[in-house]
Amino acid sequence: MDPRCTMTLGVLFVMTFALSDAVSMKTQAYFNRTAYLPCPFTKAQNRSLSELVVFWQDHNKLVLYEHYMGKEKLDNVNVKYRARTSFDEDNWALGLHNVQIKDMGTYDCFIQRKTPKGSVILQQTDTELSVMANFSEPEIEVQNITRISGINLTCSSKEGYPKPTKMYISITNSTNSTNEHSGDMQISQDNVTELFSVSISLSIPFPDGVYNVTALCVLETESMKISSRLHNIVLPESRSIQEKRKSWIAGVIIIVLLVPGFVLCYLVKLCCRKQEQPGIS
Ligand SMILES: *[C@@H]1O[C@H](CO)[C@@H](O)[C@H](O)[C@H]1NC(C)=O
Ligand SMILES: *[C@@H]1O[C@H](CO)[C@@H](O)[C@H](O)[C@H]1NC(C)=O
Ligand SMILES: *[C@@H]1O[C@H](CO)[C@@H](O)[C@H](O)[C@H]1NC(C)=O
Ligand SMILES: *[C@@H]1O[C@H](CO)[C@@H](O)[C@H](O)[C@H]1NC(C)=O
Ligand SMILES: *[C@@H]1O[C@H](CO)[C@@H](O)[C@H](O)[C@H]1NC(C)=O
Ligand SMILES: *[C@@H]1O[C@H](CO)[C@@H](O)[C@H](O)[C@H]1NC(C)=O
Ligand SMILES: *[C@@H]1O[C@H](CO)[C@@H](O)[C@H](O)[C@H]1NC(C)=O
Ligand SMILES: *[C@@H]1O[C@H](CO)[C@@H](O)[C@H](O)[C@H]1NC(C)=O
Ligand SMILES: *[C@@H]1O[C@H](CO)[C@@H](O)[C@H](O)[C@H]1NC(C)=O
Repeated sequence: MDPRCTMTLGVLFVMTFALSDAVSMKTQAYFNRTAYLPCPFTKAQNRSLSELVVFWQDHNKLVLYEHYMGKEKLDNVNVKYRARTSFDEDNWALGLHNVQIKDMGTYDCFIQRKTPKGSVILQQTDTELSVMANFSEPEIEVQNITRISGINLTCSSKEGYPKPTKMYISITNSTNSTNEHSGDMQISQDNVTELFSVSISLSIPFPDGVYNVTALCVLETESMKISSRLHNIVLPESRSIQEKRKSWIAGVIIIVLLVPGFVLCYLVKLCCRKQEQPGIS
């Protein structure tokens, strides 16, 4: 892909607050993707990179990248950032690859000009980087269903950032009425990636006269809503109850139809015998 194309995709939003000489910006990046730290050169646009020193440093003043008089210079680059950056000369932005949650923070870009008397800072840009990760699609797992205890189920989703705000399961029965059930979110954080995983466990009663329901689990974060696939839950006893009911109805039909038939037959026979009797004597 064209690097400039990936760049526009990567910058989710960039806000500018124009200060006198320093410019402040905000940028967002996805975990494990590339963050773009802009350094827009608004002053003296006609200057060539070969007369300038451009470098980025983090809030601990560790250097990420340095472009010295037209060439990349590695001497000052901190080992933490070696092989993790790429400079886009056309857009004056630094790509920071394989972004981690701990990379969140403020970065400064400086543009300096070398003069015989020393170096002069022409411009400084501060960028605040925030990192996020999409939670996985929530998954519903049904632990146990009984007519007495109801449906015990768990919904879980993993590897997201920041912390989710809400998780719930909505249950729809055959009449299309939906009930939302929410429980305490169990949130855990990976101690290496710092990403969150979340789950809820619920016990939902199975109402009388309902044999199957549809469950949907929804996870909400500050910026989005992620839904699971629809999960059909059929009560295991429902088939036998329905079959019992069918055979009971069949039994009633048989009795209702056959009993009068037998009675009729009997009456007819009785009648015939009575008519035959006088002939014999
Ligand atoms: C980061 O991305 C690479 C490929 O782009 C992938 O192989 C790796 O598993 C990802 N790491 C994490 C922690 O998601
Ligand atoms: C840059 O352009 C301005 C006018 O736009 C001019 O005054 C200045 O001399 C130019 N500088 C260089 C280094 O070309
Ligand atoms: C995260 O989710 C949003 C909304 O569904 C989507 O636009 C974006 O591409 C996803 N990002 C990644 C890295 O999967
Ligand atoms: C559900 O619970 C009942 C009794 O508590 C047990 O007999 C049955 O094996 C359980 N089913 C599953 C799928 O765990
Ligand atoms: C379902 O969960 C409830 C409450 O957590 C528990 O009391 C019950 O024993 C569970 N039922 C089964 C069949 O696991
Ligand atoms: C659940 O009930 C609905 C409506 O009564 C029916 O259309 C659907 O097929 C049933 N699903 C299952 C899995 O039995
Ligand atoms: C329930 O809703 C679905 C779509 O949401 C619709 O297709 C279906 O006809 C509805 N069923 C009833 C019984 O209202
Ligand atoms: C992460 O946590 C696990 C257990 O919770 C522990 O064994 C492991 O050493 C921890 N790793 C780090 C890098 O802290
Ligand atoms: C479906 O759920 C609604 C709300 O919980 C309830 O009022 C209704 O009776 C249920 N329908 C059936 C057939 O149980």
